[in-house]
Amino acid sequence: MRGNVTVYGAYGHTGRFVVAELKRRGWTPVLSGRDPDKLNSLGVQLPDLDVRVAALEDSAALDRALSGSVAVINCAGPFAETVPAVVEAALRSKIHYLDIAAEIEANLDTLANYGNSARDAGIVILPAMAFFGGLGDLLATAAIGDWPNVDEISIAYGLASWHPTAGTRAAGKVSRERRGGRRIAFANGRLEHRDGPAPVGEWTFPQPLGRQRVVTEFTMADAVTIPHHIPVAEFRSYMTVAAVSDVIDPSVPPPIAADDSGRSSQTFIVDVVARLGSAVRRAVAGGRDIYAVSAPIVVEALGRLLNDTAAAPGVYTAGEIFDARGFLEALSPQPLSIELFLEGQKFDLAS
Ligand SMILES: NC(=O)c1ccc[n+]([C@@H]2O[C@H](COP(=O)([O-])OP(=O)(O)OC[C@H]3O[C@@H](n4cnc5c(N)ncnc54)[C@H](OP(=O)(O)O)[C@@H]3O)[C@@H](O)[C@H]2O)c1
Repeated sequence: MRGNVTVYGAYGHTGRFVVAELKRRGWTPVLSGRDPDKLNSLGVQLPDLDVRVAALEDSAALDRALSGSVAVINCAGPFAETVPAVVEAALRSKIHYLDIAAEIEANLDTLANYGNSARDAGIVILPAMAFFGGLGDLLATAAIGDWPNVDEISIAYGLASWHPTAGTRAAGKVSRERRGGRRIAFANGRLEHRDGPAPVGEWTFPQPLGRQRVVTEFTMADAVTIPHHIPVAEFRSYMTVAAVSDVIDPSVPPPIAADDSGRSSQTFIVDVVARLGSAVRRAVAGGRDIYAVSAPIVVEALGRLLNDTAAAPGVYTAGEIFDARGFLEALSPQPLSIELFLEGQKFDLAS
């Protein structure tokens, strides 16, 4: 066994995938969250694991939930609500904190607010360590390689469909309220608010998706994580129109398990293109189920944080703290297929 890891929000849709992945990789998850009934019913399914109920307002209970663990993975969102209490508990317990937040404002707050306290406590704080925010950052960092700066990064999400969980819908609502109903786009080297609907265009993904209609300025957590450590003048993100139509339609149900692991049949391609002058570098990831795949991403980060990374305490993004190519290679060919092209030449991640 590799030690205890507290999962806050363990009974949520993504929290369950994280618990399963921790077990698969030899960690002992400690099941935590605010609802005793939901937590206990997960505990009945996993009788060998500790169940520790903790509401955000109860710092003593949070401390008990983190006691004896080497890290806490926060899977409870909206993260605008959960980050302060769970990060403060990690700081008191002096254990690493990782989350899967895909909320631009919450991600910005985490990166801005906790650097000094993380250094004082001797811990690493890693926000957005999941499909949105983490994967795009790793792909962009892997593609860019030795370039000192970049003129332009585009990240196109080719989701065949998007059945959002209750947590995704709640997080979207909180973010929309925080920005007064406006959209966010990255321009002139910073995040800016935009009024009116996002424009629609086209993006040519690698096969099998090919040419797709996409919503442009579909700004996700990558617009925080990538520019946080990569000097980039222009950053654009795109999402397939089909997925955006799903996620804004309140009648679209949550994901449905299509196999014994609980993964849905949703497929995705994440296509990252970086340009410096006339040189173009591209990293492409393909896989299944954006919620399920977040579990191996955050658990890989945990393992690297505890075993391989010599990073000083502080707050980081995935691409900033990890060897991005090595990280992606570890997740390839399953659960992600990864391809890297440098100036048109296919690059072997293992080289
Ligand atoms: N970055 C990414 O790519 C990525 C990937 C997956 C998920 N996420 C995000 O992760 C979050 C969870 O997603 P999910 O799919 O697991 O949703 P979910 O199934 O609805 O789970 C949400 C979890 O958060 C807990 N929670 C919400 N508010 C809380 C609060 N104030 N105090 C304590 N616990 C609270 C819920 O507990 P209750 O049931 O008691 O409310 C539940 O355990 C969402 O914000 C989602 O957007 C991001």
